Amino acid sequence: MKEPIAKRLYQWIDARAHISPAVEYMKNKEVPQHRHSVWYYFGGFALFLLALQIVSGVLLMLRYEPSATPAADPISGKPLCMARAIDSVVVIKVTDSTLFDYSLDDEVAFTYSGAPESGLPDELRGKSKIEYVIPKDSVMIVPYTVSADIVKDTSQKDSTVMAGTQDAGEPTATLHQTPDVAKVILDHILIVRDPSTGDIIYPSVAYVSVQNIMTNVPFGSFMRSIHAYGANLLVACVLLHMFSVFLMKGYRKPHEMLWMTGVLLLVIVFGFGFTGYLLPWTKLSYFATRVGVGYPESFIPGIGKFIAGIMRGGAEVSGETLTRMFALHVVVLPLSVLLFVTIHIALLQVHGTGNPAGVKQTGMNVIAAVVGAVSLGTIAVYRSTTTNFDFTSPWFIIPITILPVVVGSFLGQVLLGREKSSEGQLLPVRFYWNFAMRDYIVWLIGLALLVALATFSPWRIEGDSGFPIDTTKPLVTPIGIHPEWYFMFAFEFLRLVPGEIAMILIAAGGAVWFVIPFLDKNSQHGRKSSRFTWIGIAIIAGFLSLTWLSYRAVDDEFRQAAATSHMK
Ligand code: HEM
Repeated sequence: MKEPIAKRLYQWIDARAHISPAVEYMKNKEVPQHRHSVWYYFGGFALFLLALQIVSGVLLMLRYEPSATPAADPISGKPLCMARAIDSVVVIKVTDSTLFDYSLDDEVAFTYSGAPESGLPDELRGKSKIEYVIPKDSVMIVPYTVSADIVKDTSQKDSTVMAGTQDAGEPTATLHQTPDVAKVILDHILIVRDPSTGDIIYPSVAYVSVQNIMTNVPFGSFMRSIHAYGANLLVACVLLHMFSVFLMKGYRKPHEMLWMTGVLLLVIVFGFGFTGYLLPWTKLSYFATRVGVGYPESFIPGIGKFIAGIMRGGAEVSGETLTRMFALHVVVLPLSVLLFVTIHIALLQVHGTGNPAGVKQTGMNVIAAVVGAVSLGTIAVYRSTTTNFDFTSPWFIIPITILPVVVGSFLGQVLLGREKSSEGQLLPVRFYWNFAMRDYIVWLIGLALLVALATFSPWRIEGDSGFPIDTTKPLVTPIGIHPEWYFMFAFEFLRLVPGEIAMILIAAGGAVWFVIPFLDKNSQHGRKSSRFTWIGIAIIAGFLSLTWLSYRAVDDEFRQAAATSHMK
């Protein structure tokens, strides 16, 4: 009887690539089950989120344009501007030909508050249909037209006419810039201008392409939100993976290289966050990048200026910086992450997952349940103590990254069971395919969570910070500008400690972290190492408290600004 095709294909590949030794080895790869097994899901979850970032990133790249040049209307070639609705407007079309004041098909605009229908006069109810609604403060990107009013003043010799520029009676031109919107709503739309100069703010090609993705491209807003939230969950997942591996001493022999490739992966993932932040070319991304690039320049003697110059492509953050950050974000970093993840996972296949020294077999679900409860509790406390709930806050992102792992680990046990020895000891689980299936359950729950976030709270930056940066205008750093949550600890550290010292400490800390496997002698010899456990706990506490202090400093800045503007 003929062998199944899959088997014949495997034999064909094996005869040429000799894969069976590796396959035999992986067949026996096991994941230990013990009190802290729930943490083993974070590496796999990070892998899944990374793959999701690459797929959603490639899709976004199809429509994103990395250019800081002011955008122009593709049809008329006119420059584009930002226009804001100063009222809530409902535009209706008359569907009844018997009305006295209106003709059939007339388009009329009415302002409203509450429901759009509330704006309609009684005589038009049931005799018209709503064409579209523009809520107050919504912003649109439209071309604008410049027109001039030429006024010839013949009445008097005008003392205000500037000397030598014109004689009394010379025509004066007043320029008008009008947004190219439907005439019917023109009175309710105002061109957005720079508060300090009154000039029009020109959105860049990059900014317009992102707005286009968010508003016109089918599933554009969904995909961008998946990518933006996914980035936050990936960083949280890598940090949870790293700190759990640290506390479980997963770096001890023979995992030293796993640890070191891991640290490089962390730097690359941070690099993705930093370079991706500038791409929408908003005020927030521009000034946060300016601050970020400014640190090495100000605080690293000698090469600091050089590093900043390379990153910026000049003396100031500009379109050149955008091109460089884009190249790093879509070429250099993806190639580096693929290289180091491949080495990381290959090393894992060779050595398998380690078993922490002296770890207890019991209490696996207790730990998972406690971690789950603390995560839910953190979100509940954050929700009840803040007036401005933010889905990108660390007090939401970190716990929400943990929940799919906790729920998935329980569901995995329900669906795939738990293997115990006759003495009641938890038995290791085969990776292929038992633990892999448990990983997939976690991934699916994580994906469902991301889809829910992207659907019910699409990614957007509220307020002035989300406005386009126009580098032709004076650059005034908006209030409360700060980097993403995962850089806030460093932002606060650089605020509290003098710059040069802080930079030296951060660099030294990074170097020590890289060689940790060689410093923890007890773990190297398979002994318990409580000193390094306490060091780990202190570092995690330091990271969280600096992050908390940094957000508090930003809140204080907003409060002070509000108090000052109140006094004016
Ligand atoms: C994109 C980033 C990363 C991915 C995709 C990734 C992936 C993985 C996977 C799938 C595992 C096996 C399952 C597990 O133990 O969780 C693992 C194990 C490991 N990872 Fe990572 N990892 C990443 C970042 C890191 C970082 C930042 C570190 C440390 C600085 C690190 C250090 C380790 C170590 C030491 C192990 C072995 C753990 C043990 O056997 O107990 N990884 N990684």
